[in-house]
Amino acid sequence: MKIGIIGAMHEEVIELKEIMKIEKEEKLGNLTFFCGELKGKDIVLVECGIGKVNGAICATLMAKYFNVDKVLFTGVAGGLNPDVNIGDIVVSTDAIEHDFDTTAFGDPMGIIPRMDTSTFIADKELIEVAVSAGNAIFGEEKIWKGRVLSGDIFVADGEKINWLREFFNGECVEMEGAAVAHVCHVFQKPFLIIRSISDKANSEANVVFSEFVKLAAANSKKLIEGILERL
Ligand code: ADE
Repeated sequence: MKIGIIGAMHEEVIELKEIMKIEKEEKLGNLTFFCGELKGKDIVLVECGIGKVNGAICATLMAKYFNVDKVLFTGVAGGLNPDVNIGDIVVSTDAIEHDFDTTAFGDPMGIIPRMDTSTFIADKELIEVAVSAGNAIFGEEKIWKGRVLSGDIFVADGEKINWLREFFNGECVEMEGAAVAHVCHVFQKPFLIIRSISDKANSEANVVFSEFVKLAAANSKKLIEGILERL
C-alpha cells in the first residue's frame, strides 16, 4: 500500500520530511516529490504550494503518476466552530469548495454545476483510524470531526466566518483540501484531510496564524504519524 501525503507549505511538510527515510526524490515541474518510508509504510510526500490549483496538481500526480492507494492532506486551518481552539485538530468528514460561485444561474454557493457531487466525502476507514489515533495522542477534547471548506481566500473576517459556518456548516476553512478531495473523487482514491487550527479566521487571523502556524503544523504531523502507525 502506497500513501500520498500532501501539505501546502514548508511548515506543513518539513518535519515529516525530516523523519521519513527518503529513497528517491522526483522532480516534476517545479515540484519535488519525496518517495520513501515512514512508520513502515511506503509514502510519497510533497509540498504542493498554496491554493486549490496547487493542491489539485499534486493530488492528480499522486493518483495517476505515483499510483498511490490513499491520499492524506496535512496542514493548518482557520477554525469556524467557536468551540474549536487553536492547536485542536479537525479530521475531515467531507469537503466543499466554498468559493465556487455560479449563483448567476440560480445555483447555491459551493455547487459545481454538472458534476455528480460538490461535497466530497472522506474515507470512512481513514476517519476512524485518525479519530482513534487523535484521541490516543491528544485526548478526545482536542479532536473534531467535521466539514472542511476550501477557497482561494485567507479568511480574516468575522462576518465571513459566520456565513461559512451557517451556510455550509463548516468546521474549519483552508485553501487546498476540497480541491485535493475533488481530484480524489474523480480518480476514486480514498482521502482524508487533517487540519490543525492555527487561527480563528477573524480580523486577527493573519497575526495569530503567524504565531501558531508552527505549533499547529506540528500537531497535524503528529497525527499523520499516528495514522500511519495504525494503518
Ligand atoms: N489556513 C489557516 N488559516 C486560514 C484562514 N484563516 N483562511 C484560509 N486558510 C487558512
